[in-house]
Amino acid sequence: MKIGVLKETFPDERRVAQIPDTIPLLTKAGHEVLIECGAGVEAGLPDDAYKAKGATICSRAEVFAQSDVIFQIRGLGSNPEAGRADLESMKPGQVFVAAFDPLGNAEAVKDLAAKKVIAFSLELVPRITRAQSMDILSSQATVAGYKAVLVAAATMPRMFPMFMTAAGTISPAKVFVIGAGVAGLQAVAMAKRLGAVVSAYDVRPAVKEQIESLGGKFVEMELEAGAAEDKGGYAKEMGDEFIRKQRELMAKVVAESHAVITTAAIPGRKSPVLVTADMVKGMMPGSVIVDLAAERGGNCELTKADQVTVEHGVTILGPTNLPSTVPFHASQMFAKNLVTFLKEISTKEGALHIDMENEVHVGSLLTRDGEVVNARVREILKMPVLDPPAKVEVTASEAKEGS
Ligand code: NAI
Repeated sequence: MKIGVLKETFPDERRVAQIPDTIPLLTKAGHEVLIECGAGVEAGLPDDAYKAKGATICSRAEVFAQSDVIFQIRGLGSNPEAGRADLESMKPGQVFVAAFDPLGNAEAVKDLAAKKVIAFSLELVPRITRAQSMDILSSQATVAGYKAVLVAAATMPRMFPMFMTAAGTISPAKVFVIGAGVAGLQAVAMAKRLGAVVSAYDVRPAVKEQIESLGGKFVEMELEAGAAEDKGGYAKEMGDEFIRKQRELMAKVVAESHAVITTAAIPGRKSPVLVTADMVKGMMPGSVIVDLAAERGGNCELTKADQVTVEHGVTILGPTNLPSTVPFHASQMFAKNLVTFLKEISTKEGALHIDMENEVHVGSLLTRDGEVVNARVREILKMPVLDPPAKVEVTASEAKEGS
């Protein structure tokens, strides 16, 4: 197949969907790779580096015109304004693999269906062991957790590690991480590396051991979380009463912390408010909150997405695209996720193969034959449930002919 890689058009997006080192993985599998001119420049990856690995550099129009499969970081739903310009270039039967934010922007999936493209959204790959190597949410959250700590450290008026010097002893910073999923655990590890005293909390008691193995302290709370995980491996939404009690119990730890990093999210839902304005008031002046859940409203009541807010002497940051600030490695991980995913939806001979009995295919497929086929997206759009489609295998060229 011809695999096309587009330059990202979302404002300040510096990542790229393939890196030079992943090109041979595609060409060895028999694919040709087309890279839009300048696609990797922002990540420190010039066109020549792609060319040297066997890719062809071409214009955006050529990528659209020639590719069977197009890789992007941000597809239409996660690039709602600039992404619309691409709709007219899409061809029926063309395959798109990207992050489309289909649960946050389900309407955009209808636009993709209207173009009769086959769209796969990588955020919907189920969190199962077999699919870990295709999980962009995990790979990008790893980067976000790492960077969140650096942002906190660079913003704080204090140092992280303990120093015993002739000019006196500096006590280590106290960091509290709320939500110990992928981003949270990385934040624990990173804050520990920088010498902070780290504690963390999660509604899933199973993570206690993981926090401790990274050198953090698990904050015990007398809360009955029940089954906090859904079958997709993600946290379930907790009730209002639970959240109220959680805030009460956490207030003391928050007040004693110099940096609070919040990552508590439930996919497709508004983030729970875990740090109220009152709790911020109780914090020490000079403290910092880095709210990774800012995109869906934030875990702190005072968070403003992509803005820096200072209230009661506490600085609150709500960066929504930290992976883009580490574009080289974030792209490397995303690119590898994409290559593995392509293998997942290909036959051994390298033709497209969609199997509606395969949970990774079914979970991530958004549109096909002019229809929104994803059950979770259809539910959001209040569309009737579809009959389970039969197992179908198609090649990219057949997909084009049939549409
Ligand atoms: P995850 O699903 O692995 O982790 C979220 C954790 O929060 C889970 O362990 C869950 O049990 C926990 N949680 C849910 N409700 C909670 C509550 N009430 N109290 C305590 N813990 C609770 O998610 P992941 O991959 O670590 O991502 C975390 C967040 O970071 C998400 O909001 C994601 O969108 C965001 N993110 C932000 C980026 C940015 O640049 N701002 C980049 C990448 C991810």
